[in-house]
Amino acid sequence: MTPDFIREALRQVRYPGFSRDIVSFGLVKGVETTAAGVEVRIEVQTRDPDIPEKIFKDCHAILDELPDIGNVKVSIEIKDPPGSTNVAGTGKSSIPGVKRIIAVASGKGGVGKSTVAANLAVALSKTGARVGLCDCDLYGPSVAMMFGTTERPMSNDQDEIIPIEAHGLQLMSMGFLLEDRSPVIVRGPMATRYTQQFLRQVAWEHLDYLILDLPPGTGDIQLTIVQTVSVDGSVIVTTPQEVALTDARKAVAMFSKVNVPILGLIENMAWFDCDHGQRYFLFGEGGGVREAQHLNVPMLGQIPIDAETGRRGDSGAPVALLERGTNTVADSFHDIAAGIRASLKV
Ligand SMILES: Nc1ncnc2c1ncn2[C@@H]1O[C@H](COP(=O)(O)OP(=O)(O)O)[C@@H](O)[C@H]1O
Ligand SMILES: [Mg+2]
Repeated sequence: MTPDFIREALRQVRYPGFSRDIVSFGLVKGVETTAAGVEVRIEVQTRDPDIPEKIFKDCHAILDELPDIGNVKVSIEIKDPPGSTNVAGTGKSSIPGVKRIIAVASGKGGVGKSTVAANLAVALSKTGARVGLCDCDLYGPSVAMMFGTTERPMSNDQDEIIPIEAHGLQLMSMGFLLEDRSPVIVRGPMATRYTQQFLRQVAWEHLDYLILDLPPGTGDIQLTIVQTVSVDGSVIVTTPQEVALTDARKAVAMFSKVNVPILGLIENMAWFDCDHGQRYFLFGEGGGVREAQHLNVPMLGQIPIDAETGRRGDSGAPVALLERGTNTVADSFHDIAAGIRASLKV
């Protein structure tokens, strides 16, 4: 019975509620085998007592079944997750230079998450705050396009990456670091490490708010991100269809599990107003509002399908750059930003 063998066996234990196993997630800090048996040391960051208990039971379930194993001792050290300092109201975050971190997530791709993240960042910045936007989507970065920039970022003396500036925002994206269209082939643990490094190595300059545009879904990368940095609040983007709502529910569950406050849902593509004054609910009416009530989280706003919003997003000038009273979608984003400023003060 070798430590490697035990580690391999522990790969069958998943972090509760996720597909990721405790070994690849780095929770297993030590494995010792002696003549008497085996001792496993695990460390978890959580405030949910059910999580270490479940991991403890699952480890025993696997190890106790191994032949000739002897005594099995599993010890779990529980640490406070990052973000606990913010709960105390110190305004600190684990990213230097940043006061508040907001994650924009969606259970499903293509619901307009990046559109919402970009416009929210712009609208927050128009309230006078200093805002950064970080595109964490390794496989489909879009911030570069949404802000019409092809600049390559430089690094400073400390080997940190200096964000690109556009429309008064500080921007960082995996897309800035990739050659055009180069296929990103990092997967699994490598993607996790790359993302962590990326999050820690950006030289943000005195930001009030940093918006993280998370990749779609609720898998390992998303879990890693929300455990690497202390996220102060999350915004979940959905469209009105049942498929999107089901996935939005998973995103809410994920954030609850890691103690990230949920600022609320945003329902994108909620309706379409045609030029003749007729309103069409192309994906059904009120799905997002009902889901927010059901999940008991705020509905931050509804964004209609709007040709100008799409066009502007694809051409580097997000619609929220427009002043109040010019475009209804821009106005919605200004309202949402005002609400977020009120609930997450800097
Ligand atoms: N409310 C909207 N009205 C019109 N087009 C939109 C709207 N929201 C998103 N789009 C368009 O839909 C496409 C996908 O949006 P995107 O924000 O990239 O989604 P995601 O990040 O969720 O994959 C983009 O071309 C975007 O411009
Ligand atoms: Mg996107």
